[in-house]
Amino acid sequence: MTEKDFQFKAAQQMPETGSATWQSPSNIALVKYWGKKDHQIPANPSLSFTLNSCKTTTSLEFQKKTDRKLSNTFDFEFYFEGKKKEDFKPKIETFFKRIEEFCPYLKNYKLVIKSENSFPHSSGIASSASGMSALALCVMSLEKELNPDISEKYFNKKASFLARLGSGSACRSIEGPLIAWGTHKNIEGSSDLFGIKYPFVMHEVFNNYQDTILLVDKGQKQVSSSVGHNLMYGHPFADARFEQAHTNLDKLQQVFENGDLENFISIVESEALTLHSMMMSSNPYFILMKPNTLEIINKIWEYREASKVPVCFTLDAGANVHVLYPNQYKEEVLEFIKNELIRFCEHEQYLCDEIGKGAKKL
Ligand code: PMV
Repeated sequence: MTEKDFQFKAAQQMPETGSATWQSPSNIALVKYWGKKDHQIPANPSLSFTLNSCKTTTSLEFQKKTDRKLSNTFDFEFYFEGKKKEDFKPKIETFFKRIEEFCPYLKNYKLVIKSENSFPHSSGIASSASGMSALALCVMSLEKELNPDISEKYFNKKASFLARLGSGSACRSIEGPLIAWGTHKNIEGSSDLFGIKYPFVMHEVFNNYQDTILLVDKGQKQVSSSVGHNLMYGHPFADARFEQAHTNLDKLQQVFENGDLENFISIVESEALTLHSMMMSSNPYFILMKPNTLEIINKIWEYREASKVPVCFTLDAGANVHVLYPNQYKEEVLEFIKNELIRFCEHEQYLCDEIGKGAKKL
């Protein structure tokens, strides 16, 4: 599929009013996306677990504009957790401008967007993946009102395509449990334009795989991911890194087939540390990990060595640690987390999540 396939042709009908509500989860990458080209095209393919509990609920109310002259602007209000938020509007306006070509009907409606997160505000959890995917799905619900015949498959693909234009990794939050995004020669149907359901077998050991998110630092990140992505331009190790992501995806295919957790752990932890080493070796360089991030990593390594429980960590672009482990070890790992790790978290806070199936229409 190409961008052209997502162009909006004509509306079969133009309802006066309507609304839609979507609940969309966050996701955690196993193979990281770091580095992008124009229009949110990833420099390398990535693979993620869709999460279940960390999610955004967004509703979109739409009302057809009566004044023709108004149709040249985006006309919307935005509420976050019940309060009108003017400061969030520029981000949404930018998103609407990026998707205008594919969703020209947005300008024909007055929109009211209401959004809330299941996780605490400013927990350092990236809300852009769940937030942008929930909004993209609401936009697609409006499109479906105009064109009721679009298929579920097209609906999800275009939702992922639009979400990507909002925030790259958001395109991996529409479906679950495992989503690949970015063209890879051995992943049939993979595309730079949208995420696809991982087309290979997933061993049962990964069913209900757990992700406990340790909130090490809830503050604002010093360097945003868009700045970080851009620093991959001219990065001395960029080409080798992009190549490595392709290789790691090949290796993971075997792992997902045979449930080899030892190899899973070594690929996933290496990906997390490689992401952060790209940050540390870019120009300018920066560090998003905190001393407590390293304390936790070392504790996980010690515990794994001593207990033989296949628990590992991954990181996103921040200091928080995602602790990943099979469902069958939930009790003992949570015990370990409570006894040994939460003291390294801000206000001892952590979130329990697990692999999920994707967004839901409410
Ligand atoms: O979607 P963005 O632009 O916020 O980038 C996310 C990048 C990482 O979280 C670090 C990796 C990933 O693949 O999710």
